[in-house]
Amino acid sequence: MNYRKFANTHIELSKIGLGCMGMSAAYGEDKDDKESIATLERSIELGINFWDSADIYANGTNEKLISQVLKNNRDKIFMATKFGFRMPDNKGDSFIASGIYVDCSVKHIKEAVENSLKRLKTDYIDLYYAHRIDPNIPLEETIEAMSQLVKEGKVKYLGLSECTADELKKAHTIHPISALQSEYSLLYREVEKEILPLTKELGITFVPFAPLGRGLMSNKLDINSLSSSDFRKNLPRYEGEYLQNNQKLTAALEELALSKNVTTAQVAIAWVIAQSDNIIPIPGTKKRTYLESNAKAVDLNLSSSDLEKIEVILKKYPNVGPRYSQRENKFIKKS
Ligand SMILES: NC(=O)c1ccc[n+]([C@@H]2O[C@H](COP(=O)([O-])OP(=O)(O)OC[C@H]3O[C@@H](n4cnc5c(N)ncnc54)[C@H](OP(=O)(O)O)[C@@H]3O)[C@@H](O)[C@H]2O)c1
Repeated sequence: MNYRKFANTHIELSKIGLGCMGMSAAYGEDKDDKESIATLERSIELGINFWDSADIYANGTNEKLISQVLKNNRDKIFMATKFGFRMPDNKGDSFIASGIYVDCSVKHIKEAVENSLKRLKTDYIDLYYAHRIDPNIPLEETIEAMSQLVKEGKVKYLGLSECTADELKKAHTIHPISALQSEYSLLYREVEKEILPLTKELGITFVPFAPLGRGLMSNKLDINSLSSSDFRKNLPRYEGEYLQNNQKLTAALEELALSKNVTTAQVAIAWVIAQSDNIIPIPGTKKRTYLESNAKAVDLNLSSSDLEKIEVILKKYPNVGPRYSQRENKFIKKS
């Protein structure tokens, strides 16, 4: 494994982390806790030391699952989790049911951290993110409450997810923000305009989520087999003209990948890593085979000619579609 420095610290994080969401939530019915646990264990063997969860992933079930491996390996893992999204009565599938809302109030932050610590069976969280910025609460209140958790030793570092550049700058003046987690992949490059350069300037680690476009960029996803409970069923990229565009795009990427004797997913991950030295993507998987294959992407150095070929492919197939449907869009602000 190769490593990168985490923010302005001496902590070495693996050049790719492990997104754990799909082990318990979002992507259909084929959950397999035994295989997920084996995947977490295998990640440690491979030197992948950065795991990503959130309290909303299956209403805490994902954190509980992770705790089964974390409890005996606490010193080996830099554990990131998030608070802020809530479901009414903490019930229902947040990815398909209605009613999800954002709560970054001081009261909720205090409760949320205790619940995550309990579920993760640990007495500290390495990186604690606000999953979204709460539109109903001054940002200062949220960041100050998060900062208090650092003072209490419950949390080591703070992160934000999907905020604007102005919000990031403001938050960073209240307490150092060490990581920003936002969507970034060959399918979604908005962050390149302002957010990514800003993180670099401020010494913040940028953590791309969905670096594989939620599986689409692997060119291995069988769209027709997605169950009705699969979150991707509701996303514009997975239907109609956008899907057609994206399938052509990934097929073209696969040609490039095959010419280099690597997989399309490895190209997609290596491309994200190549964009800046403060980037650590967290491709999600619940399977050892994918994890092992994705881990090899850290050794794939795309040449400038490869990067140019990728740009040509992206220009040829620009109709990728919006990343979210209306339901999720209300939680995202334009920078
Ligand atoms: N902050 C936020 O708002 C936010 C939003 C979304 C996600 N996240 C975090 O980011 C992480 C990564 O994002 P993501 O999981 O949504 O999307 P992703 O990493 O782009 O893609 C995950 C999907 O790709 C599949 N996959 C992985 N490696 C593969 C390979 N080598 N070949 C074929 N298919 C492969 C996975 O299949 P299997 O599941 O079958 O292994 C899964 O369906 C999540 O786990 C979560 O922790 C954060």
